Amino acid sequence: MAVHRVARTEDIPENTHLIVEVDNRSIGVYNVKGQYYAIHNRCPHQGAELCKGTRCGTTLDSEVYQFIYGRDQEIVRCPWHGWEFDIKTGRSLFNEKIRTRSYPVLVEDGFIGIVLAH
Ligand code: FES
Repeated sequence: MAVHRVARTEDIPENTHLIVEVDNRSIGVYNVKGQYYAIHNRCPHQGAELCKGTRCGTTLDSEVYQFIYGRDQEIVRCPWHGWEFDIKTGRSLFNEKIRTRSYPVLVEDGFIGIVLAH
């Protein structure tokens, strides 16, 4: 296991993200409401650069004909065909078995580190 420092916390303000290269992997590092998450920058559908997609929220579970928007900035929508993924877990919203890899993040001494198992 290795921790790769990729940015300082001020490099990724709240609700922004950065795409970094670590160990020949492209990874999106996201600040979601003050918490950091990292996901592989590759869509499991056809390989688009997922982290270049739009950030958004989604409709929450609700009654019929009721549409409640929530989880703003927690979802990334693939730029090619619109599949949506939870930034916190890398899982697809429509099928949790489909996912892009997510990586643990450590914040230490003002640096954001991505944990990779080797
Ligand atoms: S490549 Fe991402 S939805 Fe198709």
